Amino acid sequence: MKTLVLGPGGREHAIVQALRADPLVSEVRCAPGNAGIAKEVPVYPVDVSSPQLVVELCQELQPDLVVVGPEALLAAGVTNALQAAGFAVFGPTHQAAKLESSKAFAKDVMHAAGVPTGDAKTAVSLEQLETALDEFGAPYVVKDDGLAAGKGVIVTSDRDAAIAHGRDIFSGGDPVLVEEFLDGPEVSVFVIADGTDGVAMAPAQDFKRVFNNDEGANTGGMGAYTPLEWLPKNFTEDVMEQVARPVLKEMVDRGTPFTGVLYCGLTVTDKGIQVIEFNARFGDPETQPVLARLKTPLGQLLKAAADGKLRATFPSVTFHEHSAVGVVMAAEGYPEAPQAGAQITGVADAAKLEGVSILHAGTTAGSSGEFTASGGRLLTVVATGDDLAAARDTAYAAVEHISVPNGHYRTDIAAKAINGDITIPGA
Ligand code: AMP
Ligand code: GLY
Repeated sequence: MKTLVLGPGGREHAIVQALRADPLVSEVRCAPGNAGIAKEVPVYPVDVSSPQLVVELCQELQPDLVVVGPEALLAAGVTNALQAAGFAVFGPTHQAAKLESSKAFAKDVMHAAGVPTGDAKTAVSLEQLETALDEFGAPYVVKDDGLAAGKGVIVTSDRDAAIAHGRDIFSGGDPVLVEEFLDGPEVSVFVIADGTDGVAMAPAQDFKRVFNNDEGANTGGMGAYTPLEWLPKNFTEDVMEQVARPVLKEMVDRGTPFTGVLYCGLTVTDKGIQVIEFNARFGDPETQPVLARLKTPLGQLLKAAADGKLRATFPSVTFHEHSAVGVVMAAEGYPEAPQAGAQITGVADAAKLEGVSILHAGTTAGSSGEFTASGGRLLTVVATGDDLAAARDTAYAAVEHISVPNGHYRTDIAAKAINGDITIPGA
């Protein structure tokens, strides 16, 4: 099977590596990829946000399966264009990707499907915004209704800050969503969906805030780990029953079946599982540790989903017993204003540690054979180990080998889980 992965980040690097490990995958290519991916497979410097250019690339490469990474490509209709040209695609159409690109749409689907989620109000004026804030009370949750790459949200007890954030969103032309605050630990579950059916990947936990102890601004994600031993028994099956299957059915009923990753962003509250958001793709950086544990061959799994034959081929997905931890190394100034140009050294040394893989995102190849920072999140350092503590120790040992001048990373990824400090409210 010939495969093509679309996207530039750490998630795509992890997908590339997992596809290469599938014995039935004969070829892996990536567009545009990045400096790390280019060391492993052929990459094509194509503007993949253009459906037309992606179709032309596929006509040249003739892949048996195209895997779409980022949400922007899905929202731009890359899947629609590829399907119209006769290619098998893992990733939803732009109609189905509205589960991510419009939070109001996602709420509407959840209500229709009876899926547990916090109450929300859409505001299009300052007056409506203030009314909604006062109805829900503090802490206030204020979101951009459009695509904001995980960064359009503020959670604050400061009413003025909540209003200021709402004004910012209005000035960008989007409606504002005000939500009930959901209290509890967060979990990401990727459900591989084939249009009617789905299978869940192992749950992971992401670290969205930029600094230790969940302080500072929201980012795309600063690290992740799996498994989550603190979850209630049957958690994954509950997510399938209460969330994924009803949503997939609702999407079929609406005539826009969902094929791809239904990323369920969940909070485990005293009232049970609540959906915070859906994404229509693999999460970054959760994918990096999750795929480090995947036993099921990824290429065959995603092809079965793209062909609508999941149940017949892979009624479940299997994972290695070992744990995996991923630590994101970011550039100076990320997330507000990432600075390009830092010379990254030590990557090759770090990669020699047993169980470590270094997945690239915003790097370019430097002339000296090392790498230069050219984005916000630069690397995800992933390590596996017999348990979370071992995986975490190895991941940070690898991080220590790498130097990103003025860069930063969190030092507490997976720490609370290892120390038994994660509690579910009311449990
Ligand atoms: P989102 O872009 O909707 O994923 O939100 C980003 C982050 O903001 C989430 O991962 C949570 O940490 C936080 N957040 C979003 N919605 C809520 C909510 N209703 N209650 C509490 N925290 C939230
Ligand atoms: N890690 C969060 C996301 O991919 O949206």
